[in-house]
Parts: sequence; C-alpha cells; structure tokens
Amino acid sequence: MWDPLANPPDLPDRVFQGYQRLIYREAGIYLGPTKKALLMGRLSRRLRELGCASFSAYLELVEEDQAERLRLLDAICTHETRFFREPRHFEFLEQEVLPRWRAQGHSGTGVRKVRVWSAGCSTGEEAFTTAMVLRLHLPAEEGWQIEIVATDLSTRILERARQTLWSVERAQEIPTRYLKAFMLRGTGSQEGKMKAGPELRTLVRFQRLNLNEERFPDLGRFDLLFCRNVFIYFDAASKTRALDRLLDHLSPQGFLFVGHAESLGGLTQRLKLVQSTIYTPGSAG
Ligand SMILES: C[S@@+](CC[C@H](N)C(=O)[O-])C[C@H]1O[C@@H](n2cnc3c(N)ncnc32)[C@H](O)[C@@H]1O
Repeated sequence: MWDPLANPPDLPDRVFQGYQRLIYREAGIYLGPTKKALLMGRLSRRLRELGCASFSAYLELVEEDQAERLRLLDAICTHETRFFREPRHFEFLEQEVLPRWRAQGHSGTGVRKVRVWSAGCSTGEEAFTTAMVLRLHLPAEEGWQIEIVATDLSTRILERARQTLWSVERAQEIPTRYLKAFMLRGTGSQEGKMKAGPELRTLVRFQRLNLNEERFPDLGRFDLLFCRNVFIYFDAASKTRALDRLLDHLSPQGFLFVGHAESLGGLTQRLKLVQSTIYTPGSAG
C-alpha cells in the first residue's frame, strides 16, 4: 500500500507505453507522450480505491478485467458538451435543410421520417438539441417522424444521459423558444433541475457503441450524423477507419457534422464539403 500524496507511485515509460497500446487498441484513442501526467492524475484515485500498489499492477488488472477497462477509458475521455454547442450547425439546419425538407415533404428519402445519429453523444445535450430543432420545424401533426440514436463508448456517461436531467442553470444554453416548448423546470424535490419533456424523450434512444469496433451494429442509414469533438482523441489511422464505417450509415442526401476544430481533409474521398465542418456524400472533386 502507498499514500499517493506523500509518496505517489511513478509511471515508468515502459508501463505508460503499455497503457498507450491498450487504450489505442480498445478505443482508437492515441495518448501522446505529453499525456502521461494526465493519465497519472486521472488514475491515481482509482488505484487508491483498489489498493493497487503501482501503475503496472493496475495495467495488469485492466488487461484482465473488461469492466475495469471501461472505467479506465471513461477516466481518460473528456465528456464536455453543451446544448446548442457550435450553433452554426443548428442554424444551418434551421435555415438551409429543414425548410427544404418541409417544402419537399420529405428528407430526401421519400418519406416524412428523419433519422439522426449522435455518435460520441456524452450526456446527451447534442441529441436533445437536435431533437428540439427538428421537432419544432417538423411537427408530428404534419406526420413527421423523428428518430435519434445517441451512442457513446462510456456506459457511465450513458446512464447519466438516460436520466435526461440537468442543472437548471444549463437552461441558459437553450434559446427561449425551444426552452419553453420542450423543457420542464423541476419543483419540490426536483428544485434546481431541468428535465427534457416527454415529447422529446420519446425521440432519443441511447446505446453503447465503440467507434473503434471492427463492425458497427446494424443501425441503418441516417439523414444527419453528428460526430463532433470525438475524433480529437484519435490518430489519423483510427480516424480514417472509424470514418469509413460511419459513412456506410449516412444516407446519400444526408449531412455529417464534425467539431469546429476538426477537419476531415485527406481522410476520405467519400465526402464533399458543404460549409466548414459540414459534409455530404460525394466526390471531393
Ligand atoms: C467531448 S465529448 C463530445 C460530446 C458531443 N459530441 C459534443 O460535441 O458536445 C466526446 C465523447 O466521445 C466519446 N468517445 C471517445 N472515444 C470514443 C469511441 N472510441 N467510441 C465512442 N465514443 C467515444 C467520449 O466518451 C465522450 O463522451
């Protein structure tokens, strides 16, 4: 046993490389050498809880134990997210895509049904933002069906997402017309909380999916695919592999959204740029 404050265990380079290999193999996430301190910081508490004497002993444990591997991956990922994050994407939907779909009476597929995939959804804000925007512009009374599949690597984060419960301060991130239409303010024991209303909750389904898997489950095709701020962890090889599998699920008239700091330049010939960080299937030309 050791006391991590008085005597924190060291993480020798050889052991760090073992973590790098395991994390890359499992999740496609490349932890560069500068991430050593981050890994130590994120794992120290867990080592202490388990009474693990060294980073090497914990590495042996996670190699053996799948549940512990999930905890490790969870610990190294950032789950930061917001409602209406990168608002330009939602303005593009409101101004360019949804008026066209409404006028045509369909989403490019011939039916009044829209399917969305939020890949790397974290606690669900991206999925629920899309649910609000789509539902307001494509009302159920006009026969529009909306299905949103939200997936993440982390089972812990998905449990939180399924609660559809946030601190009421987060309401500031949501434009008033959406807030009024779709969100509920908690009272009594739920004071200080905000919950997605029942209409929204029926639109979103959460599921665990590792974007680094060889094969994805058969999710069908999607009209809108969000994969934002997830590939930041990947290297070019794991990004290219995951992107290729994702694109098998994007409908020919659909749109792919990536994070504002991300670019898919040089990774695929299967997409053309519509606007910065928004892509549609086609030859890049
Ligand atoms: C920073 S959050 C982004 C949330 C949201 N897309 C947004 O932009 O606000 C990144 C999420 O990607 C997930 N993630 C990381 N690697 C993944 C993988 N291999 N497969 C699926 N999800 C992954 C993390 O668990 C985390 O919740």
